Amino acid sequence: MLGSDLIPVWRESSDLDFYTHSQCDAANREQVRTVLEKNRPDLVLHLAAATDVDRCQTDRKYAYLNNTISSTIVAQECNRIEAGIVYISSIAVFDGEKTEPYTEFDMTVPVNIYGESKLQGEREIAQFCPQHWIFRTGWLFGGGPLDRKFVANILRKARQEELRVVRDCVGSPTYTVDLARGMREIVGNQPFGVYHVVNAGPLVSRYELARHILGIAHFDPDRITPCLSGDLDLSAPRPRMEGARSMKLPLLENPPVLPDWRESLEGYIEERLNQFLSS
Ligand SMILES: NC(=O)c1ccc[n+]([C@@H]2O[C@H](COP(=O)([O-])OP(=O)(O)OC[C@H]3O[C@@H](n4cnc5c(N)ncnc54)[C@H](OP(=O)(O)O)[C@@H]3O)[C@@H](O)[C@H]2O)c1
Repeated sequence: MLGSDLIPVWRESSDLDFYTHSQCDAANREQVRTVLEKNRPDLVLHLAAATDVDRCQTDRKYAYLNNTISSTIVAQECNRIEAGIVYISSIAVFDGEKTEPYTEFDMTVPVNIYGESKLQGEREIAQFCPQHWIFRTGWLFGGGPLDRKFVANILRKARQEELRVVRDCVGSPTYTVDLARGMREIVGNQPFGVYHVVNAGPLVSRYELARHILGIAHFDPDRITPCLSGDLDLSAPRPRMEGARSMKLPLLENPPVLPDWRESLEGYIEERLNQFLSS
């Protein structure tokens, strides 16, 4: 999802090549080395990840191989050719007990295997490749035809009788295109390190976000029934707070400011509504 939206954004200013999972397995050192030797990049954007949170909980090999070991390998191979690395992490590295958005300076305590494997991935990146930018982001939306996540799921189910969405998890929705632009600005202008990068706008629960989505698509938002995460049969516990803000970026010169997620969500859905409703 992020990769497909990031490629055109970064190509506006960089000579960018990309590899899908079938073209290069990030957990396979030989394949990673072959790709890096062929291209000799200055910078590698390591976006590969196991993002199915419930599968991570029941299949630890899937989680740690694709989130942690892949990061060890990519970081070590980047360092070998003196390339920088960008790693995308998640607000799921926190325990969700805070009542305010998490900053870069909060203590990381993941509550599920996905969060733990992403956090271990961060540590591997920082340990093995000194030239690193680690971006923790929020609930992503985007991907257009490749969107299989929250926005697409809500709209695909929009015609069904009952739609139940949790009201006890809040987060910072973030548009992949805005994130890609923000990442590009930080990498071009700011020091190495860990940054929280999310769209501006209020914290929102999954339930309220789903109502927004239906409203933009001209469905009745009242068709959604709020529920609690405990009512759903999910393998992985979810942090209650996945909101984020950056304490570091505002202190730097010319930091990127991402738009309000409500504007970006409206533009994204209006542009793609027919696609979502016909798929
Ligand atoms: N989605 C969110 O809300 C969210 C929030 C915060 C952070 N993030 C992070 O943002 C990044 C991008 O996420 P996304 O939402 O774009 O995820 P996505 O749509 O699931 O894309 C992840 C991609 O990684 C590939 N992949 C998995 N293991 C790989 C491996 N060993 N080698 C090469 N490719 C591999 C997957 O290919 P296959 O499908 O073929 O396996 C898939 O194309 C990830 O690091 C994720 O953890 C996502």
